Amino acid sequence: MSDSGLKIFVFALSILSLAWLCCGFNPVDNYLIDCGSISDTTVGDRVFLADNSTSNTLSTPKNIFAKSSTSVTSSDDSLLYQTARILDGTSKYSFSIQQPGRHWIRLYFYPFVHDSYNMSKANFDVSTQDHVLMSNFSVNSNVVKEFSVNVTSSSLEITFTPSSNSFAFLNAFEVVSVPDTLITDGASTFNPLGKFQGMLSQALETIFRVNMGGPTILPENDTLGRTWVPDQSFLINKNSATNISRISAVKYVDGGATPNIAPNTVYGTATMMNSADNPSSNFNVTWQFNVDPGFQYLVRFHFCDIVSKGLNDLYFDVYIDSWIVSNDLDPSVLLFNTLAGALYLDFVTALTVNNKLLVSIGPSSLPNVSPNAILNGLEIMKMNNSLGSLSRSASLLSDSSSKKNVGMIVGLTFGAVIAVVLAAIIFMLCRKRKKLARQGYSKTWIPLSISGGHSHTVGSKYSNGTTVSVDSNLGYRIPFVAVQEATNNFDESWVIGIGGFGKVYKGALNDGTKVAVKRGNPRSQQGLAEFQTEIEMLSQFRHRHLVSLIGYCDEKNEMILIYEYMENGTLKGHLYGSGRPSLSWKERLEICIGAARGLHYLHTGYAKAVIHRDVKSANILLDENLMAKVADFGLSKTGPEIDQTHVSTAVKGSFGYLDPEYFRRQQLTEKSDVYSFGVVLFEVLCARPVIDPTLPREMVNLAEWAMKWQKKGQLEQIIDPTLVGKVRPDSLRKFGETAEKCLADFGVDRPSMGDVLWNLEYALQLQEVVVPGDPEENSTNMIGELSPQINNFSHVDISVSTAQFGASSVDDLSGASMSKVFSQLVKSEGR
Ligand SMILES: *[C@@H]1O[C@H](CO)[C@@H](O)[C@H](O)[C@H]1NC(C)=O
Ligand SMILES: *[C@@H]1O[C@H](CO)[C@@H](O)[C@H](O)[C@H]1NC(C)=O
Ligand SMILES: *[C@@H]1O[C@H](CO)[C@@H](O)[C@H](O)[C@H]1NC(C)=O
Ligand SMILES: *[C@@H]1O[C@H](CO)[C@@H](O)[C@H](O)[C@H]1NC(C)=O
Ligand SMILES: *[C@@H]1O[C@H](CO)[C@@H](O)[C@H](O)[C@H]1NC(C)=O
Ligand SMILES: *[C@@H]1O[C@H](CO)[C@@H](O)[C@H](O)[C@H]1NC(C)=O
Ligand SMILES: *[C@@H]1O[C@H](CO)[C@@H](O)[C@H](O)[C@H]1NC(C)=O
Ligand SMILES: *[C@@H]1O[C@H](CO)[C@@H](O)[C@H](O)[C@H]1NC(C)=O
Repeated sequence: MSDSGLKIFVFALSILSLAWLCCGFNPVDNYLIDCGSISDTTVGDRVFLADNSTSNTLSTPKNIFAKSSTSVTSSDDSLLYQTARILDGTSKYSFSIQQPGRHWIRLYFYPFVHDSYNMSKANFDVSTQDHVLMSNFSVNSNVVKEFSVNVTSSSLEITFTPSSNSFAFLNAFEVVSVPDTLITDGASTFNPLGKFQGMLSQALETIFRVNMGGPTILPENDTLGRTWVPDQSFLINKNSATNISRISAVKYVDGGATPNIAPNTVYGTATMMNSADNPSSNFNVTWQFNVDPGFQYLVRFHFCDIVSKGLNDLYFDVYIDSWIVSNDLDPSVLLFNTLAGALYLDFVTALTVNNKLLVSIGPSSLPNVSPNAILNGLEIMKMNNSLGSLSRSASLLSDSSSKKNVGMIVGLTFGAVIAVVLAAIIFMLCRKRKKLARQGYSKTWIPLSISGGHSHTVGSKYSNGTTVSVDSNLGYRIPFVAVQEATNNFDESWVIGIGGFGKVYKGALNDGTKVAVKRGNPRSQQGLAEFQTEIEMLSQFRHRHLVSLIGYCDEKNEMILIYEYMENGTLKGHLYGSGRPSLSWKERLEICIGAARGLHYLHTGYAKAVIHRDVKSANILLDENLMAKVADFGLSKTGPEIDQTHVSTAVKGSFGYLDPEYFRRQQLTEKSDVYSFGVVLFEVLCARPVIDPTLPREMVNLAEWAMKWQKKGQLEQIIDPTLVGKVRPDSLRKFGETAEKCLADFGVDRPSMGDVLWNLEYALQLQEVVVPGDPEENSTNMIGELSPQINNFSHVDISVSTAQFGASSVDDLSGASMSKVFSQLVKSEGR
């Protein structure tokens, strides 16, 4: 008796230890069901239970078990595909979850015909309590969809919702615990904030899981039941790569990967550069993957240097699209000099706009390193969008009903500015342009700027000459000879600035008008796009507080933009670092007010908000009277290549001004400008750079530093020393509060630009009221009558612009296709 008991005990023990040995991870929740089957099914070392044993977890209107007469022979999990459950009507599986945390949801589909149900015609949505996993899904061959979600409650519900007149089906599924260490926070991102936080609540869908240079790895050979496929079919140029396999060399060390991250069969094989001992080889090995645009992806690279004979032998570069993920990577060094240590690196892409994602490896540019590069494994996981959905059709449906998402992301440059364009606006402007052109363009050119604005009548300067053509689509074209003349043939000593776009020259037109001439670098497709957009947008926006575009020149492949000249340079230059005399508090307030007006106009002057995207003190220019004008609408960074994911490696520019929420949610609103403007306000007050790495840690980031003092109510402690004793406490308080509100964590909590303007006007009044010593001040007490007057100020712009454009044709927007709009822009240039 005790004999058999012992046997069972030993047997159970050996199963346990076997399970332990083979799997290394024992999932607490482990539901494996072979749907529609009345008997258990064994696949590899896993048992999928019969469907009737667990039917209590499913609520469905009709119990329909289906059995296929044919079978899938090609597939290892073919047994699972012989039966299915038809879900005719909304159905819900409920699983009790023993241990909250991340769980796999793997859904197996193989359509066949059962009675009147042709599963190839099934169409349905699948969702959990928190996420839409698939929508409008239909399938015509066998597939396994793998998702992972963090279940925080004690049950997981998976709902199948058939489309109208259709039904859902399912052949098998898994709901299995995932080790907590598999998906963690802190993946690197393309954006300047560096790390992606919030991965723990992401729903992920595995799109690709690839074993480079090796064979398919089946679930039974992976501790977490994953399938890894070979990389050959993803390689763009098979000749560029070769295989290597040294599975026994793989070492798992602290700080690196574990067997649960990927098995040694993944780390032990690699695809490497086929440099064939040619020391001058210089090319990339590139894989191409189809992805669904409009989502972010978690890309996990698996590296293990099974190639090198010794340390410090292998250095290579890694790219996603054109973005450099890692420069001169030596995986062994990252693992404390462990040769053949298993390492993984996580990266989160920006919202993709393209339906292809390229992953490349290539030789490092370090000297005296023989060219080679390897990749051992790769996983690409789709992340849920801001609506919690992994499906585009679901998000599109909700998007079109949510009005706030005006902006559409068309290109992603991680340079100074993320290229985001409001398609609607451009479309509207194109339409408007055509209308204006029909009405006679020169008439509408000037009056858009309001009272006191500089009206640039360049057209008339040249209108007697024959060389100037007024382009119906794009502002004023200025002859190249006139530009040469204006800049003394691009005299190097006349250069006043150098930017990403090219050089900026000071110049004077032949009637004496001073101009700033921005000459683009030799024409590239990207530069051309920026050039187009800048002309298109700048010639539409005419406002006293926006720098005006006077004209442009595109002769001889040139890309030249001619702006009004701003005598006093940038606001930044007046705050620090240039040795200029410091500005008074009143001057600073007036400058802030002017800039706020310009931005307010951008945000509200048209039916849809235009977002500047690069608000900073270097983009606020001052004319000879220190009047502020907002420059560089950030549009110079937009691009029309909607079909091309553009991620640039150069992360420069607007550090310190970037709205953190924008990066968290990838949703751009005018409140991102408000955030940046708040940083400018503190910059104006403290007269120091927004990021100053030379300062002690807590002071490096001005926004953080100033907010700390503002929250303590002691902002006066950190103001520009030259202002000490010259700012009235009330005025400072109002100013500080305004800046603080602009820096609210969430866009919804930030004021509109109109409110900011109002508050700054108020801060100015508070300052003026109590400075009787200043002879220029009108010291009448105006506080009582303040509000109506200020309200007038802030509404002038709106009324003017609405008068100009009437109820702007919102209806025109429907059906606007981005690519059409952009191809129009490009074509119009190509004339
Ligand atoms: C499932 O159905 C089969 C066939 O009807 C039966 O033999 C089996 O006992 C059932 N299992 C359970 C758990 O009800
Ligand atoms: C089932 O539907 C698919 C796709 O519509 C079709 O190609 C196939 O012929 C149908 N099969 C039957 C038996 O009706
Ligand atoms: C659903 O998918 C079908 C093709 O599979 C497509 O024709 C249809 O437009 C889609 N419906 C929605 C609402 O996306
Ligand atoms: C799941 O989400 C909760 C709340 O966001 C978090 O505390 C927990 O760490 C997450 N667990 C895993 C395994 O990601
Ligand atoms: C690389 O490995 C794959 C998969 O094992 C194989 O099909 C292919 O022929 C190999 N290529 C070379 C060059 O060895
Ligand atoms: C997968 O595991 C089986 C045993 O479960 C083994 O025979 C086979 O060689 C393994 N395959 C690989 C590629 O390791
Ligand atoms: C490799 O690809 C990257 C990204 O597209 C590119 O910048 C680089 O020039 C390529 N290197 C070679 C040698 O082609
Ligand atoms: C994914 O969904 C979660 C809610 O579960 C949300 O907090 C998160 O922001 C979403 N991810 C993205 C990238 O929008």
